[in-house]
Parts: sequence; C-alpha cells; structure tokens
Amino acid sequence: MSSNDILKVAVIGGDGTGPEVVAEGVKVLKAVADLEGFAVETREFDYGGARYLATGEVLPKGAIQELSQFDSILLGAIGHPDVAPGILERGLLLQMRFAFDQYINLRPVKLFPGVETPLAGKTPEDIDFVVVRENTEDLYTGIGGFLKKGTADEVATQTAIYTRKGCERCIRWAFEYTRRRNRKKQLTLVAKTNVLTYGHDLWWRTFQDVAREYPDIKPDYNHVDACCMWMVKNPEYYDVIVTTNMFGDIITDLAGILQGGMGVAAGGNINPEPGGTSMFEPMGGSAPKYTGQNVINPIATISAVAMLLEQAGRQSAADRVIKAIQLVTGTKMKSQAAGKMGYGTREVGDLVVEHLNA
Ligand code: IPM
Ligand code: MN
Repeated sequence: MSSNDILKVAVIGGDGTGPEVVAEGVKVLKAVADLEGFAVETREFDYGGARYLATGEVLPKGAIQELSQFDSILLGAIGHPDVAPGILERGLLLQMRFAFDQYINLRPVKLFPGVETPLAGKTPEDIDFVVVRENTEDLYTGIGGFLKKGTADEVATQTAIYTRKGCERCIRWAFEYTRRRNRKKQLTLVAKTNVLTYGHDLWWRTFQDVAREYPDIKPDYNHVDACCMWMVKNPEYYDVIVTTNMFGDIITDLAGILQGGMGVAAGGNINPEPGGTSMFEPMGGSAPKYTGQNVINPIATISAVAMLLEQAGRQSAADRVIKAIQLVTGTKMKSQAAGKMGYGTREVGDLVVEHLNA
C-alpha cells in the first residue's frame, strides 16, 4: 500500500475490447472504494498494439520504472490483428511478469451462480478450486536457439529451466494460500515426474521438503495428463493446485472453460513481497470483432478487480465485489457469452455497482 493510504492503480486497457472491460472494472473499483471509505487513484497507459504500430516500441523506456510507482496494474487485453503473434505477448505481458518478478500466477476457478458450465450435473459447490502457477521460469524464459535454420538439417532447442529458489517460493506461497483458504486444506502438485526426471524431480523434492513445514495441509500429487481427466470428471476433488509455468498455462484454460469461459475467468500475476507490483487481468483476449459494440462481458475484469483488492489488503471490498458479481450472474444475466448477456457491457458494470450494497 502506498503512502497516505491511497490505492494507486495503473490501468492498461490495451487492445480490442480491453479498454471497454477495463472501464467497467475501474467503475466498480471506484464505487467500492467510496462505499468502503478509501481513496483510489487511477492512471491510464496506452500500451498495446496500436501504440506499437505507431511508435515501433511495445513498452517505452522507463515504463517499468513508472509502473512500479503504483500498487497494482489492471490490464485489459493485448492482441492486435496487425501485430505478429508473440511481439505483444513477450514485449508487454511476459516483460511485466519478469520485470516485476510476479512469480505467482493465481487463477481462481469458481463457478458463479447462474453461470453455465460444460460439465453436466456440476454446480457451484463442485467447481471451486484455485490454480497457483509458477510465473517466471520453465519454457517461458526464452532460452533456446536454432542451428542451421531453414535447412533440412535444422535443429531447434527450447529449454525449460527450473530453479530451487523459483519453485520453492511458489510452492511455499501455495501452502500458505491453502492454509488461508481453509477449505479442504489439500494442495495438489501437478507435474510430470515420470518423464521430466530432472526438472520435475526438483519440483517434487522441493514440494516434499516444504510440505513438512505445513503438517495441517494434505500434500497431494497428480501427473498433468491425469489432472486433465480428473478436472473434468471430478472437479470437486481439487482445493488448491500448484504447478509449473507451462503446465499451468494449459490447465488454466481447461479450468477456465469449466467455470464458464473467458467472459468470467480472471487471473493475477502477483509479486507477494512487500512493495511488489502485481498485475490483474481478465483471461479472455482482445476479441477484436466485438470492439466498440458494448457486447463484451466485463465480469472477468470485475473479478480481476476483486483479486486486486484482496492483494492490496482490501478484503472486505473484495468480498463485496464478489458478492455483487454472484448476484448479477445469478439473478440478472442471461448468459456469459458476448452479445447474449441480456445487457450491454456498461449495463453489467452498472448492475454490479448497484449490488455492491447487498
Ligand atoms: C496466459 C496467456 C499468456 C501465457 C500468453 C498470452 C503469453 O495465455 O496468461 O495464460 O501463455 O502465459
Ligand atoms: Mn494461457
């Protein structure tokens, strides 16, 4: 928390529908701060595809330093039809994760009332778990290269790196989180120890070591392929999952669709250290075809705001937002799909604001 107890939030709307959903997130953030009696200061940054096309740079010099002055960052979406894949992902999203050492990628997987899941017969009681994904290592570090590129003898390498420090801090945070969450008190390590006998052996040994410090938490293990089956068959089995960066990326899209899809799934890129800068985002992309039509679902972004508030130590404000979302999905919205909500983007934001007092 910054001085004077003002919550300072940097807002990056980004591309496509990003600015529209972020506007609703900021609306809810300001309304809940008023109700809870604390001050919020927001500042908008125009980073994204359009700026890149105009200036040739994704993040200008000094951007990281400037953003580090804020308590948190709210990011809409990146992805522009005229920008080659990878440029914005690496230059903006991954750059921020690495520069701010946001080593936790937190993905709550909660089916809100009234939200449709593709899993037959499963209810909000069944789909309520959290994935803690390591966010700074693995295949994401960009280590690798080509030999004889473009020839018949071409070789490509892409190296996964895992460090004791990197997996230990993530695993320890996950144990702490499981304890705080206080539900089944079960933490499942998801990896592939039967094949990745070096990297995931390090994860396995570290998990065993840290588990000894948490006798109240049940340590559990799934291979990643089996996890994908169980998550669909028995989502109620899970409480908290901790996993590597690459596997976490994959299983959180699976998990996201179980909770109703990209209109509702939110995530946090968290640096939990004192003074750390964390970033919160809806999981959906920039959905360019819906831009400017007031049809995109802002619920994921509003959920990201709830996560931001929780990380900023504003638990009662976060609880208010989640409760309001649940009332709106449960009693107002017809669907979570863009254009089928029964309301426009702005109206859904207004509805959440109206229900903050419930
Ligand atoms: C995510 C996204 C990113 C990732 C992409 C956009 C680089 O899929 O946050 O899950 O792979 O981490
Ligand atoms: Mn992903």
